[in-house]
Amino acid sequence: MKKVKKKNVLMVVILIVILIIGGGVGIKTYKYLNSDEYHLKELGYSEKEIKTILKMEKKEIETILDLEYNEHMVSLFQEKYFILSNLNKYLDYKEKNKEKNYTDTVAIINVGADKDWYGEPKATKMSDEYLILVNKFNYLEEGYTPEDLVDMGLQYAFSGKKIREEVYTAFKRMVKDAKKEDLTIVANSTFRTYDYQQGLYTRYKNDYGKEYADSYAARPGHSEHQTGLAIDVSTLNSTMSNFEETDEFAWLQEHAHEYGFILRYPKGKEFLTGYNYESWHYRYIGEEVANEIHTLGITFDEYYAYYINK
Ligand code: DAL
Ligand code: ZN
Repeated sequence: MKKVKKKNVLMVVILIVILIIGGGVGIKTYKYLNSDEYHLKELGYSEKEIKTILKMEKKEIETILDLEYNEHMVSLFQEKYFILSNLNKYLDYKEKNKEKNYTDTVAIINVGADKDWYGEPKATKMSDEYLILVNKFNYLEEGYTPEDLVDMGLQYAFSGKKIREEVYTAFKRMVKDAKKEDLTIVANSTFRTYDYQQGLYTRYKNDYGKEYADSYAARPGHSEHQTGLAIDVSTLNSTMSNFEETDEFAWLQEHAHEYGFILRYPKGKEFLTGYNYESWHYRYIGEEVANEIHTLGITFDEYYAYYINK
């Protein structure tokens, strides 16, 4: 009788152990089947991709889980200027433009350069004093004229030029510092009205055709010159078109950002700015942002999309 009792106790103990182990395995399996890792695997992501995805923020992982597998997904998420709300646009664009790399894909979508130039232009936001974005997609109202335009002195500009007050202060400081190194920087086109830009664009178009005009001159309302924040420069013996070969240009490349200016239409970024390279066109955006843009090596359009408008 005692022996039977002992045997029963042993059986119960074994049963409990089995239940504990089995339960443990069951819970583990249940947890795995409900994990992001499992769902990502089910969607078709590789071990390597899953490892990367699992390090992302919760919201990003959830977005990936809501979509079908895409071979470009992980690479796009790893781009420095990736914006989550643009994801579907990046994926669509990359699918249709396989030859474009991920960096360019993200930049193109961020600035809206996948659309036709001047396709769906919007009135630009005027909420910031100096960080006003004017390009082929964002325009200034026809009647816009900055309120703080000042006349520029003849030692800084060709006659009759006006610019916004703070820009003039920064420009004077820059020109004076360049002068200390025997360099002469002169402003030859500064604030331009809507009507002036209209005339300029029309002249370009009549003389050289629409394509050429659009690659060098903004259509009225779309010129940074109307903001009173842009200056075209040259030296005393150079024109705008050979300004790139001057020592003044080399100096500006190194120092313009210290005074709050950036080269607005850089070489190699035509597909984002919509304009040919202009070694002469400088845009005032204030020292802080100019320094950041200089360090990052991106255009104002890209900066605006990622750091201001996101
Ligand atoms: N040349 C620049 C793009 C302008 O016309 O504003
Ligand atoms: Zn210009």
